[in-house]
Amino acid sequence: MIKKYRFGKPFETDAILTQMQEETEAPCIAQGSFQTNGHFSFTYLMDDTDVIYGLGEANRGINKRGYVYESNCTDDPNHTEEKVSLYGAHNFIIISGKQQVGMFFDYPGKIRFDIGYTRQDTLTVSCDDADLYLYVITGESAYDVTKQFRKLIGTSYIPPKFAFGFGQSRWGYQTAEDVEKVVKGYRENGIPLDMVYMDIDYMQDYKDFTINPERFPDFPSFVQKMKEQHIRLIPIIDAGVKIEEGYDIYEEGVKKGYFCKRADGSDFVAAVWPGWTHFPDVLNKDAREWFGSKYQILIDQGIEGFWNDMNEPAIFYSKEGVEDLNEAMKAFVHSLEEPQEQAHREDIMDNANALPYEVREKMNRIQNSPQDYERFYHKVNGEMVRHDKVHNLYGFNMTRAAGEAFSKIAPDKEILLFSRASYIGMHRYGGIWTGDNQSWWSHILLNLKMMPSLNMCGFLYCGADLGGFGSHTTRDLLLRWLALGVFTPLMRNHAALGTREQECYQFENTNDFKHVIGVRYRLLPYLYDTFVKAAKENDMYFKPLGFEFPEDKYAVATEDQLLLGNELMITPVYTQNAIGRTVYLPEEMMFVKFMPDGTILQEEMTRGYHFIDVALNEVPMFIRKGKQVSIVDVAQSVAEIKPETAKVIGYR
Ligand code: NOJ
Repeated sequence: MIKKYRFGKPFETDAILTQMQEETEAPCIAQGSFQTNGHFSFTYLMDDTDVIYGLGEANRGINKRGYVYESNCTDDPNHTEEKVSLYGAHNFIIISGKQQVGMFFDYPGKIRFDIGYTRQDTLTVSCDDADLYLYVITGESAYDVTKQFRKLIGTSYIPPKFAFGFGQSRWGYQTAEDVEKVVKGYRENGIPLDMVYMDIDYMQDYKDFTINPERFPDFPSFVQKMKEQHIRLIPIIDAGVKIEEGYDIYEEGVKKGYFCKRADGSDFVAAVWPGWTHFPDVLNKDAREWFGSKYQILIDQGIEGFWNDMNEPAIFYSKEGVEDLNEAMKAFVHSLEEPQEQAHREDIMDNANALPYEVREKMNRIQNSPQDYERFYHKVNGEMVRHDKVHNLYGFNMTRAAGEAFSKIAPDKEILLFSRASYIGMHRYGGIWTGDNQSWWSHILLNLKMMPSLNMCGFLYCGADLGGFGSHTTRDLLLRWLALGVFTPLMRNHAALGTREQECYQFENTNDFKHVIGVRYRLLPYLYDTFVKAAKENDMYFKPLGFEFPEDKYAVATEDQLLLGNELMITPVYTQNAIGRTVYLPEEMMFVKFMPDGTILQEEMTRGYHFIDVALNEVPMFIRKGKQVSIVDVAQSVAEIKPETAKVIGYR
């Protein structure tokens, strides 16, 4: 059962399009209480065994208990354990214990979920303004609550089938030759590949919807040539539009008044990759339509997929921020002019750490600063709305701009689309990738844990930068991460500029990579069908074990294995130098291991704990009792998969 409550005057986020009658009574949740004295807060006394699920793209575990999380879309590439905000804002939680209650706080500003951080037994959800919609969902189980919620928020985005293939990306592929080298590297080594991602370097001076003609002469022919080799090129689109006389998109946006404005009505200016930029006001319907229509420029050149980036929106610094810093620096320089010992003055100039605290603080805080988010406005239905109040809707609406446009530009085409920043509701238009992770073992596990939480919030087409974005990867880490990536809908290797090259053919014994990625293609028809079914039925692709086995405390506590569809359980290895791992089977299952020689090992296992051996070049999974999956022969691309080679393996 779902009930909708209104507090104050909520902003219409469009997270939920289903029309629902609002309750007239105040919400009542056993062990919970609401306070609305200007601010909003909900406090709940948790039982010892209560599990709190949800929050989508958030740090730490599947059970969110024991920490604090803030929905506040943030461009932060250091996903260390203490971080409270990542790129997404997914305000849905489920209290699962004596009662099974889902709560969606439809509030587009910063909102805090203190889940046993301040007091171990207390859950507190709080935000500055008591203006929000609250949806309360009760059901038989956490799984049941999730399915009701998913139905309420609408069908998840389904990407084209090629998007289930493997993609290679790197920030730093500069030219058509660079791209060709990647394709050659994969094809020559027989490692399957369907997509090469184009990062910002393909653009002319980082201008959205442009192609650098020197680096990519005759781009449409190049796109076509790649397609003939079953490779799709997937360009990045950034939120900021470069300020440059003569750049049509900039000029049009200014003329039509489609950029975000300062309080005085002038266009807000922020620095991102292209230098000074304006942000398209994607919360404004007309501006959204206008920005979305620009994707056609690339679609007309043969492009069939995009990734939307920097759409928290990320701000390196604003004009005002620089001004502020200048003032602080000026004051500091001025202070040096005061009479003082020459030696002391030189010391200060030699050592940046000796800069006064206020100056250092300003330097550190100039990026993505909360003050900047208070400096610009959106025009929504004729009213000016200050950005910080609706901050978490920017990435959603940038992606919505594209998604809505695709249905007009190319109604018969399926187009791949995913985003970095998101809010619930965006799941209808695109998927997400989980941003700038690192080549750390702990981030394989973080990747795994995020997946079911994202599914709870509607995001099915998801994945992480396999191999790690920041830091230098290693061969073993990449292989282990790929063996998880085999199962994530988005399977993409992506790395940052300046890091070690991590295309699979850069390492010794490329056959191991060929085999691991090959397993993805062997399972691809099954994975794709499972995905489409999950999307259409508002179901989950990845589930925590506790969703199917809520009475089994060992299953509920297992956070490093996932159920996939109704047939599989995945148990990737995520530690360095491991020879395998311990797994927990909540019921008897068939252990399946894809061996490097192409054979498939199958072994029945009883309920309980087991140690499974898994070498670096093997891919483990389990088939549940009474279930089966079909497996095809390996192919080099999705288009080359031969359905007639399908064989069924199962556990009767
Ligand atoms: C930030 C994104 O998260 C990353 O994936 C990308 O490579 C860089 N921006 C450069 O575009």
